[in-house]
Amino acid sequence: MSNHKIELTINGRQYSGDVEARTSLADFLRDDAGFTGVHLGCEHGVCGACTITVDGRAVRSCLMLAVQANGATVVTAEGLAAEDGTLHPVQQVMMEEHALQCGFCTPGVVMTLASLTGEGKQCSQAQIEGAMSGHICRCTGYQGIRRSAARLAYDAMGDSAQQGGDA
Ligand code: FES
Repeated sequence: MSNHKIELTINGRQYSGDVEARTSLADFLRDDAGFTGVHLGCEHGVCGACTITVDGRAVRSCLMLAVQANGATVVTAEGLAAEDGTLHPVQQVMMEEHALQCGFCTPGVVMTLASLTGEGKQCSQAQIEGAMSGHICRCTGYQGIRRSAARLAYDAMGDSAQQGGDA
């Protein structure tokens, strides 16, 4: 069986790999690159645990092949905090709101929220609510997750939306 050479950027560093065509991006990130913060729950696009960003957009890494990520820029939950350990704003808010229990769904939730908010991005409450509907938490963390999402949505709506807003 012939393998395929891929090169991509993960969390700011260059990686290369020699993968089978059928290798999922999630398996490459976990097993080859060592980013085990990419969690695998359902492995068919339902639970959201494996969410990462590819070129800035949230993606289910269980549904994407590693060969499709050739040349892409990938960020996993491990790549969000600053080098000095300062948490990403999404991580900070989720910590303050106790938005986790077992933590299994957390990296995927963090990556979806980070893809929509922060760094001057603007989005609506409806966009965030819609995106969060694609994440399953197995142990009652929803209240904290929803509080976090609401805070981040408010911050990301921008001044004009907040003045006339539906928050
Ligand atoms: S493991 Fe990818 S969506 Fe569930």
